[in-house]
Amino acid sequence: MSHGPATPLTAATAGPLSGTAHVPGDKSISHRSLILGAMAVGETRITGLLEGQDVLDTGRAMRAFGASVEKEGETWVVHGVGVGGLMEPEGVIDCGNSGTGVRLLMGAAATHGFAVTYTGDASLRKRPMARVTDPLAKFGAVAHGRSGGRLPMTVVGASTPVPVRYATPVPSAQVKSAVLLAGLNAPGETVVVEREATRDHSERMLAGFGAEIAVRDTSDGREITLVGRPELAPQTIAVPRDPSSAAFPVCAALIVPGSDVLVPNIGLNPTRAGLFETLREMGADLVYENPREEGGEPVADLRARFSPDMKGIEVPPTRAASMIDEYPILSVVAAHAAGTTVMRGVAELRVKECDRIDAMAAGLRDCGVAVRDGADWWEVDGRGPGGVPGGAMVAVHLDHRIAMSFLCAGLAARDPITVDDATPIATSFPVFRDLMETLGASFR
Ligand code: S3P
Repeated sequence: MSHGPATPLTAATAGPLSGTAHVPGDKSISHRSLILGAMAVGETRITGLLEGQDVLDTGRAMRAFGASVEKEGETWVVHGVGVGGLMEPEGVIDCGNSGTGVRLLMGAAATHGFAVTYTGDASLRKRPMARVTDPLAKFGAVAHGRSGGRLPMTVVGASTPVPVRYATPVPSAQVKSAVLLAGLNAPGETVVVEREATRDHSERMLAGFGAEIAVRDTSDGREITLVGRPELAPQTIAVPRDPSSAAFPVCAALIVPGSDVLVPNIGLNPTRAGLFETLREMGADLVYENPREEGGEPVADLRARFSPDMKGIEVPPTRAASMIDEYPILSVVAAHAAGTTVMRGVAELRVKECDRIDAMAAGLRDCGVAVRDGADWWEVDGRGPGGVPGGAMVAVHLDHRIAMSFLCAGLAARDPITVDDATPIATSFPVFRDLMETLGASFR
């Protein structure tokens, strides 16, 4: 759902950040818990669900598709309708700011014989949907959207779907997941091949819900085969905490002098943990404490301390998918490192909640940092610890991660940094301000 009026927020240099930061549940896993719970037969119970607007919008959508989604105490309870049992929504499905929400829902509904109209906020209405509707057409679904394949869009689902084999042309877990969710209600085997591995939560969770799904490495990339029309068994899910949200207190601690912050229980699934690897290569004092396995996933408590000796590096393009949401905050750390940080193979950043290369480059330049960029690359000249002038008002373009990145930047800049609108933060990290203030951040 669209949010209220724009609210500027300013971050200024504070003392050291210290203490423990319990970040919210993983956004990707939260969306999938609600969608797969709604497609199982019976009661799925979810703890640790991210109660950000993006996920709440997906919960509302699942109700519109006929599932029951309620909160009982601290547990979210979903009564699913079974594979093939989604019902035609009465109204328009408004996914707010969430690309993940709309693309996964389009996939799940595309092999049901009814039409669904989707929309979203001004950011989502600019984002490309053909990357999802192209493969969904192979199942037999027909999409009618605005020019350029934009929302609002109606997708008429296939009443007699056929299974699909699809090689994803862009590295996107959303596209992969949309095809797999559509494949659930197609007979036979649906196969997705991705050249570069993207986050694999859909594969892991589909297996957890009892679907027959196999993954193998081939010369063309990762090949995922799903057998259609399974009966999904309801699950009890404890959503791990979000590494993409952990990135903000971790990176803020690295650049604010004297800081020492613990961020417990962070999933380090290799398809998500690229930022932390990159920071360690830059020389960050970032330690994985108490490493362990939880629910089949590697988990650790992240301990980040002020790191005055970080150096710019060339981030390997092969790592891009595993840290795609973290480039904005990485660029803030890069501005505080010595030397240049080079980020290549990141064209996808241009089609996120906003064009994240443009938004970060513009804001960093206004803060006195040199940035160069091209279609699928950008580089940031570090000014060393404490060397970022700041003192700018930056535009966040309805993008939560741009807002949080510049607020973290303001905590270490010489002069305060203001974001023109902090309200988008509620989509993924509603407690960001409180949590950062508890650590010692100063916002006004
Ligand atoms: C997500 C996939 C990524 C990511 C988004 C969440 C997901 O998008 O940027 O925040 O949950 O599948 P792409 O798959 O389009 O890269």
